[in-house]
Amino acid sequence: MSVEFCGLELAHPIINASGTFDAIAARRAFGDELLERFPFSAFVSKTVTVEPRQGNPPPRLWELPAGLMNSIGLPNKGLDGYLANDLPQLSELSVPLIVNVMGFSRDEVAQLVSGFAVREEVAALELNVSCPNVETGMVMGADPGEVARLLAAVRPLTGKPLIVKLTPNASNVPAVALAAEEAGADAVSLINTIKGMALDPRSGEPWLGGQTGGVSGPAVRAVALAQVYAVSAVVGIPVIGMGGVQSGRDAADLMRAGATLVAVGTESFRDPAAGSRIAAQVSGSSTNDRISVRG
Ligand SMILES: Cc1cc2nc3c(=O)[nH]c(=O)nc-3n(C[C@H](O)[C@H](O)[C@H](O)COP(=O)(O)O)c2cc1C
Repeated sequence: MSVEFCGLELAHPIINASGTFDAIAARRAFGDELLERFPFSAFVSKTVTVEPRQGNPPPRLWELPAGLMNSIGLPNKGLDGYLANDLPQLSELSVPLIVNVMGFSRDEVAQLVSGFAVREEVAALELNVSCPNVETGMVMGADPGEVARLLAAVRPLTGKPLIVKLTPNASNVPAVALAAEEAGADAVSLINTIKGMALDPRSGEPWLGGQTGGVSGPAVRAVALAQVYAVSAVVGIPVIGMGGVQSGRDAADLMRAGATLVAVGTESFRDPAAGSRIAAQVSGSSTNDRISVRG
């Protein structure tokens, strides 16, 4: 079951999706047993930004018939707060730590990458490119040129693996993935949430404090499979697939479509042990054969 990913030797191919498993809170709840039986083969942090963020006003969640919509708004302690408070605790985990970062400009992303480059507790960095660049107004991950310029700025700052987390809210996701690979990314991950909206049934106004939200869970699984398949067909670097994974069968599907690792997100809210369960299920199914029509 062990898998090599960007130079990391992982016990199995199932990791968590950023922002959906709080390892610090889980350790408080489950104690050291969590370290002994950690559900994922690597831990991906929630997004860290340069400055601390409060996140979006409530309500922040809306339940869908087959999923979840959130407008959490990336609350976090900021780079300094994360380095001082969270990193020492997360470095005690029994699995490699992947830190997810997001900046509102290339300079901010560079600041984050430099801040973590020197920390040996950090095994790899995941760049969340789903936010607008304040300098251009464009969502960084929606445009191949934006992603190439971002990688050109941050690639020289670290030898650690850089994973670009792609947004599904782009017209040509494979083109963005290819631009990331050509500019030096070590891996890509997808999908992030899909933009959605809900109206308050009484007032008719947007329900979520952030007006719109990100759709996740089973509702996005078919979209994730199509995008992982399309991206895997054009890049040579490893792909981390995610979106609506609830079972070993779902994870195996993403691996057959080309994913090396699979991340579990929304399902962990329902079942905190989903990672271990899905890893055990996937080990019982054959994922060696990719979909035969793949080039
Ligand atoms: C409540 C919630 C919080 C999330 N927070 C983050 C985040 O901080 N950074 C990030 O890159 N993605 C974040 N995501 C997106 C997930 O990592 C994942 O890409 C997406 O939810 C699809 O996977 P899933 O359907 O298994 O949840 C969040 C998703 C949810 C539901």
